[in-house]
Amino acid sequence: MEKRSQNNPLAEGEPLKNVLITGASTGLGLALAQRLLPRKDLRLILTAREASLARFQDVGLLETDRVHLRPLRVNTDCERRAVVEEIDKRWGGVDILINNAGVAYRAVMEHLKCEEIDRQMEINFSAPLQLIRLVLPTMREKKCGRIINVSSVGGMLAMPTMTPYSASKWALEGVSEALWYEMRPWNIQVSIVQPGFIHSDSFENTRMTEASDASFESAEDPYHPHYFYMERLIRKAMHLAWATPDSVAKKIERVMDSRRPALRVPATFDARVFGAMRKLLPGPLFHEILYRALPNISDWGGEYTSSYRSARPDASLESGTKVEHRGDKPQDAAEKAA
Ligand SMILES: NC(=O)c1ccc[n+]([C@@H]2O[C@H](COP(=O)([O-])OP(=O)(O)OC[C@H]3O[C@@H](n4cnc5c(N)ncnc54)[C@H](OP(=O)(O)O)[C@@H]3O)[C@@H](O)[C@H]2O)c1
Repeated sequence: MEKRSQNNPLAEGEPLKNVLITGASTGLGLALAQRLLPRKDLRLILTAREASLARFQDVGLLETDRVHLRPLRVNTDCERRAVVEEIDKRWGGVDILINNAGVAYRAVMEHLKCEEIDRQMEINFSAPLQLIRLVLPTMREKKCGRIINVSSVGGMLAMPTMTPYSASKWALEGVSEALWYEMRPWNIQVSIVQPGFIHSDSFENTRMTEASDASFESAEDPYHPHYFYMERLIRKAMHLAWATPDSVAKKIERVMDSRRPALRVPATFDARVFGAMRKLLPGPLFHEILYRALPNISDWGGEYTSSYRSARPDASLESGTKVEHRGDKPQDAAEKAA
């Protein structure tokens, strides 16, 4: 097996650590890949959906003897197996699994079809679990390993209009917590990294459902203020956020290197604040504070009133006016076809 060379925290003579990262071609996954690239103690197996692999080339990230680029749609069993089996056979198994790939649907409960809920849960929850199941036997055999699941502030507090996303991250956190106990006897460390708002474009990748899209576009729809104000809030929060994909990647790297990492690792300032509030405040008070902090909450659920009309920056909005926004991601259709 290949030995380490220089600049690494491992003891001399130790084999390279095999790091498998999902969704590595963009956003946080790419920032992490770029951060880990110079490390001579790691073998990186960077994965992305087949259609996104070309992005690695675009940023000058090429295959080397320590960097391997592989197609992986996390919600496809045969692709998961192919990647893990190759790592098992060629390099002795995954040492560090980073479940980063994720999607976010934006919709209230009434605007979700069963298949949209299933897809959200499949990508953010079931797929990471299935990957974990595949890497655990080798980790147990070696009596060491790391599993790092990228969750979200949405995994500690549920946000309106992000119903299924919150559910998927809460579920991921629940499993990670159980796994933390189950795996400790084998020295397998499990951590949940919780980013809050990140200064990035990833909001553009969120997915509307047919019904949430229609509601967003029609100022008369009863849920329209939910979407309108939440979108404005999230865009603003992401724009003003101090955290960047690289600063979150740095936290993940720290978790990778820490001898005994915490189970839950808040990765941004707002994640720390919300985490502390959740711990310290009585539940009813916590929810009341957050409810009142929702933007223009008095307009939510109301009729298409003049107060709501004048609260909007585009106050000239007339009945039936369509509201411009970015629309859905084309990969949704592509995924459905796949
Ligand atoms: N950005 C934030 O503010 C924020 C906050 C909290 C938590 N997070 C979490 O951080 C993680 C990374 O998000 P990000 O901000 O980097 O978002 P992003 O830029 O939208 O990246 C998401 C990544 O997941 C990949 N992906 C989606 N569906 C996939 C599938 N079926 N198979 C394989 N890969 C798939 C995407 O690949 P394609 O490009 O090929 O679709 C992309 O590489 C996610 O788990 C997200 O929930 C992000």
